[in-house]
Amino acid sequence: MNITMNVLGIETSCDETSAAIVSNGKEVLSNIISSSIKFHKKYGGVIPEIASRMQLETIAQVTDQCIKESGISRKDLGLISVTSGPGLLGSLLVGISFAKALSFGLGLPIIGVNHLYAHIYASFLNHKSLSLPFIALIVSGGHTSLFLVEDFDKIKLLGQTQDDACGEAFDKAAKILGLGYPGGPVIEKLSYKGNPGKIKFNCSDTKKPLNFSFSGIKTAVLYYVKKSTVHSPQTTDKIKYYGLSTMDHRLISDIAASFQEAVIDTLINKSLLACRMKKINKLVVGGGVAANNRLREKLFEKAKRGNIKVYFPEKILCMDNAAMIAGLGYQLFKKGYSSGMDLDIDNT
Ligand code: KG4
Ligand code: ZN
Repeated sequence: MNITMNVLGIETSCDETSAAIVSNGKEVLSNIISSSIKFHKKYGGVIPEIASRMQLETIAQVTDQCIKESGISRKDLGLISVTSGPGLLGSLLVGISFAKALSFGLGLPIIGVNHLYAHIYASFLNHKSLSLPFIALIVSGGHTSLFLVEDFDKIKLLGQTQDDACGEAFDKAAKILGLGYPGGPVIEKLSYKGNPGKIKFNCSDTKKPLNFSFSGIKTAVLYYVKKSTVHSPQTTDKIKYYGLSTMDHRLISDIAASFQEAVIDTLINKSLLACRMKKINKLVVGGGVAANNRLREKLFEKAKRGNIKVYFPEKILCMDNAAMIAGLGYQLFKKGYSSGMDLDIDNT
């Protein structure tokens, strides 16, 4: 007999407040994502205090809407899965406390899951035939990591960034160019108008071949912009002053495209190297930067030549969302894992 288990997922690790219901780890019945990004824009990055206050205000409403849109009722739920880390402390605390209260009130088991591993899981929601093992590349605003995924509870870190995360590098480069926050989508958009071969940017080498480094390329963009900024009255060391007003639009697009190309080439080369080193011909990509079309197209093309199959989640599931949390929670619960009322933030 097939028993259906509906899992309520809760995600509040950064600026999003998200609740989702996923059936048997695969079928997304509802996935509500509310972002406080517009309140952070003027600061050029996420302000933790603003994020957690917004989450406190919206989480109950987002969860109500998620249950309403799923077409099921509270009594049809079998498990609550919540992000326990890594993430912003105040934000995680809101999600965990809310999930615990619901678990207690509804008499449901609760499980805390790792946010990065949930980004890996996102591809299972779109690709029903995806199977273990595989290599996973997670590229977000806070992380850039390569994993060997043998099972949902057997995930080995192969390499990670030594300094800035990949999304963070996009955000900082955009800030240098005066393009606002978040930087990834706007750099991608401008890159379509630019020449990716115009400027030779490179990501720094790392001692270990599967590690990453993005802080050098960000500095290279800063120096290039400084050099190209003519007679700006605001020429100070503060990067925010180098912007559109003093540079030609064509040049800004070329810088954006050249920066994006160098970062993407590094992500692709290292991911395919990990596949070759581990003799695995399946690669799963996740996290906010995985929404980038140039990365998607170029990786598909290069991987195909090496006989490697690549899986991306649909774009909405690349961003932070609770469906991936519910999905991974289901798989771990099925393996016998669960948490208790002592569930706490896990930022290890
Ligand atoms: O996974 P995510 O939504 O949140 C974190 O867990 O960090 O990732 C957000 C990051 C931001 O740094 C943003 O600039 C980047 O993902 N991003 C992109 C694109 N869309 C979002 N980077 C490059 N190209 C994009 N299209
Ligand atoms: Zn994330």
